Amino acid sequence: MLQKPRGTRDFLPDEMERRRLIERRMREAARRWGYREVCTPDFEHLELFTMKSGEGIIQEMYVFEDKGGRQMTLRPEVTAAVLRMYVNEGKVLPKPIRWCYFADCFRYERPQKGRYRQFWQFGVELIGADTASADAEAIMLADDTLRSTGVTFDLHVGHLAPMKHILSDLAPGDQRAIMACLDKHDQEGLTAALAGRNLTHLTEPLAALSECRTVPEVFEIAGDVPERARIEETFALLDSLNIDYRPDFGIARGLDYYTGMVFEAFAKNLGAENQILGGGTYRLAHLFGGDDVASCGFAIGFDRVMVSIGNFELAHEPVVGVVCTPDARARALEVARAFREAGVRAEADLMQRGMGAQLSHAAKTADFAVVLGKREVEAGTVTLKDLHSGEQKERSLEDAIAEVVRHGAC
Ligand code: HAM
Repeated sequence: MLQKPRGTRDFLPDEMERRRLIERRMREAARRWGYREVCTPDFEHLELFTMKSGEGIIQEMYVFEDKGGRQMTLRPEVTAAVLRMYVNEGKVLPKPIRWCYFADCFRYERPQKGRYRQFWQFGVELIGADTASADAEAIMLADDTLRSTGVTFDLHVGHLAPMKHILSDLAPGDQRAIMACLDKHDQEGLTAALAGRNLTHLTEPLAALSECRTVPEVFEIAGDVPERARIEETFALLDSLNIDYRPDFGIARGLDYYTGMVFEAFAKNLGAENQILGGGTYRLAHLFGGDDVASCGFAIGFDRVMVSIGNFELAHEPVVGVVCTPDARARALEVARAFREAGVRAEADLMQRGMGAQLSHAAKTADFAVVLGKREVEAGTVTLKDLHSGEQKERSLEDAIAEVVRHGAC
């Protein structure tokens, strides 16, 4: 039996309905903040992602050569593509630009629960506002969007400046290696990376920074940084709206483009793969031929949110099975159409089964059977059978539709 590729999933209808419901809630949250949906291609030129992150990222991507010999990749994330699109089409739009997306991404990772090779992100990008208010808006929207899904989470907010200040004497490559260990919370790797570079004196300030829970403490450890006023203003805005977050200046973020404010959210009930959101401020457009515009955004790991929420009950919509004799088939099609026009799910027999077999199929798959035989066709009526109570009554088509619709509303 042929199997699906490793790290991918199939979704049955119940699961798809749950996913669509949560997806709608996230889109709705973004809409309320003025974010409009955009869509970019599933694949891009490889250099879109290697420009900032270097060739090292290739091993984590689905890279391929197309028939024209071009190096392409399935997108591992959407931010770079959205900024490419901004440079291509959006530069003339009034700023700030508020965009959101729901898209599948592809990363060549070792699959486990909550970590897939194809996964979906719901994200937003706020382009062209370089202020504490913009940083705070992105964080507040992240909080609002996650809340709308019903997931329970911890929100961590930090800024890269204090950590970069502690690491400021290091070469960029060393800085990156150490920040990668901090991002993965890889304590062993960090100890080795610091020891290998004769930097053990940084162990203590880096640990202290990660443990800081108030903003003033951060500057005691890292010293004054030019971004201090902006950091304080952003945190004050979050406090003024009582956003429930924790200052966390140990956040390093895995992607290379972040420049300042960074934030992450963690689902309370998940294990190793509990990070359900990541974001921050960044600059990318200038790399793609655009202006050096400040941007800020985040992406939610939709699949992890779904794992965290679990299998909730879906609201049940009534289903009508249209059951008919062979000579009532044309009328059955009309009746099914009338139910559908009223918004009701109606299914007709396609198997040329007898009435008895049609009824027992409807009993397994529907809430109501609408029975059409010679008598009903001649009288212009239908027999509506409630498949739960067994009650049945002949009535006009309009009354039958009204009854099913009423049932759906209760
Ligand atoms: P990221 O942290 O790489 O950020 O990904 C965002 C979220 O996607 C993660 O927090 C996680 O929930 C989910 N995720 C990542 N990899 C996987 C995977 N293999 N399987 C399932 N879920 C996964 C970004 O992608 C940035 N573009 C976010 C951003 C937007 N920053 C600014 N704007």
